[in-house]
Amino acid sequence: MTQPKWWQSGAIYQIYPRSFKDSNSDGIGDIPGIISRMDYLKNLGIGAIWLSPFFKSPMADFGYDVADYCDVDPMFGTLADFDKLVNAAHERGIKLLIDFVPNHSSNQHAWFLESRSSKDNPKRDWYIWRDPKPDGSPPNNWGGSFGGSAWTFDETTGQYYFHQFLPEQPDLNWRNPDVKQNMMDVLRFWLERGVDGFRMDVVYMIWKHPDMPDQPLQEGAVARAPSDIHGIQQHLYDWDYEGVHDIMREFRVLADDYGDTLLVGEIWLGLDRWATYFGTPDAPEFHLPFNFRLMLPDVIWNAEALRAEIELMERTVPAHGYPNYVFNSHDQKRLPSRVGEQYTRIAAMLLLTLRGTPTVYNGEELGLPNGDIEAHQMKDPQGINLGVEHTRDVARTPFLWDDRVYAGFSNVEPWLPVHANYKTLNAVYQAKDADSVLALYQRLLALRKVEAALSIGTYTSIETPQGIFGYTRTHEATTFTILLNFTSAEQTLTLPAHSKVVVGTSQGREGQVAETVTLRGFEGIVVREEK
Ligand code: GLC
Repeated sequence: MTQPKWWQSGAIYQIYPRSFKDSNSDGIGDIPGIISRMDYLKNLGIGAIWLSPFFKSPMADFGYDVADYCDVDPMFGTLADFDKLVNAAHERGIKLLIDFVPNHSSNQHAWFLESRSSKDNPKRDWYIWRDPKPDGSPPNNWGGSFGGSAWTFDETTGQYYFHQFLPEQPDLNWRNPDVKQNMMDVLRFWLERGVDGFRMDVVYMIWKHPDMPDQPLQEGAVARAPSDIHGIQQHLYDWDYEGVHDIMREFRVLADDYGDTLLVGEIWLGLDRWATYFGTPDAPEFHLPFNFRLMLPDVIWNAEALRAEIELMERTVPAHGYPNYVFNSHDQKRLPSRVGEQYTRIAAMLLLTLRGTPTVYNGEELGLPNGDIEAHQMKDPQGINLGVEHTRDVARTPFLWDDRVYAGFSNVEPWLPVHANYKTLNAVYQAKDADSVLALYQRLLALRKVEAALSIGTYTSIETPQGIFGYTRTHEATTFTILLNFTSAEQTLTLPAHSKVVVGTSQGREGQVAETVTLRGFEGIVVREEK
């Protein structure tokens, strides 16, 4: 009998450490805070935590600018706290994944300080340095992801250094064998401390064309702001560049040396190129190249478009791979604000019943919409550089624990404001209500955990009236039918024979046995065939 792997039956839960729980009254979340909420996570029923960066950092990009890959920033705690976190998770049967940021370090990393100190420093080549053009301008036309040029001139040595992101995030030179060796040692360092895997940040960017030629513009692309070059450029020589897969395979070989280690890759690429990051059966790469397609702004959130998307994914993921779905993250607007609050519950049901590892972003299980952030409150450099409509702060506001001041996140003013309606939109309030979004996530997570049909079972679309998305999931003798009404109108549907509703997006459905069901607008049910 085939058994699901832990990352197929259990959901990954992303924690953004700054915003989860503050334990030392500085307005910023920390590792002891996360430990104090471990029972909440166990009760929620997730399989693994993925922790966004908690490493030593000047926080120019809130931890995605790492100044020491093997230490904890004092703001978040200590290495001893981290070890306690590993134990606290493992004692409760929860796996722990951490972020690995291979493309760039902080400009305050000791390696970069050495590299920039002189042209003949042994670490000069650990980063990407080039001479100016004869007129003094940057070496090529590449743009930085947060606006402006991807090059910053350094007075001391008269050269430019390259950064895909902020000037505070210089790109490491993976063509230098010492860089590779040191970064591989970083992975070993954390594996030895007991982590169960990594989420690898913009990992498809780490290998560039050695000559870094100019990149043509994309036809018809619209810049996010006047300073945005990156967003309208074709990324021919800086993304997914020939040779990058060799390193991905090395990551996997290293991970496999440590047993059942999970590798998740942050891969923003078109579908065909994205799929190559599963590697081949003989030379596998990522278990899960993150699938962000349903977070793209142009996704139409209706039954027909979603069905087409899921079927496309089913056809695209290679036989040796397994799909995955992400609806929320620290980089995107939250789903209820992005697509409409009416979809919150059926989105949860979809996410947690598809063939594919679900990732749940902290706060998603409460149905959190975007936080309200005005221009003067922005902290995120993307918003500051490109405009308030691009700020990722809206998805990074503090977790809402209870109805105390600052929503129980902290007892001092948090680094970003809490939602205005936190008195009723919080975890304690929802835990008391069997019909809350939180309770729905709990029921669905619990079911997915025990029912192999929902994790490794086959996926088949079923015929349904317009506006309804329906599919079955089957493993051995068990079949579940999922029916989701993406319209506001009631719809009466025939149910499979001998079936019983096991989860409904709202209370009152569970346990129902009938030949037909009338779904209310935006209602969904999971039905089990009773043999
Ligand atoms: C990834 C992270 C994002 C960060 C960027 C640079 O996209 O998810 O938050 O700003 O990489 O590290």
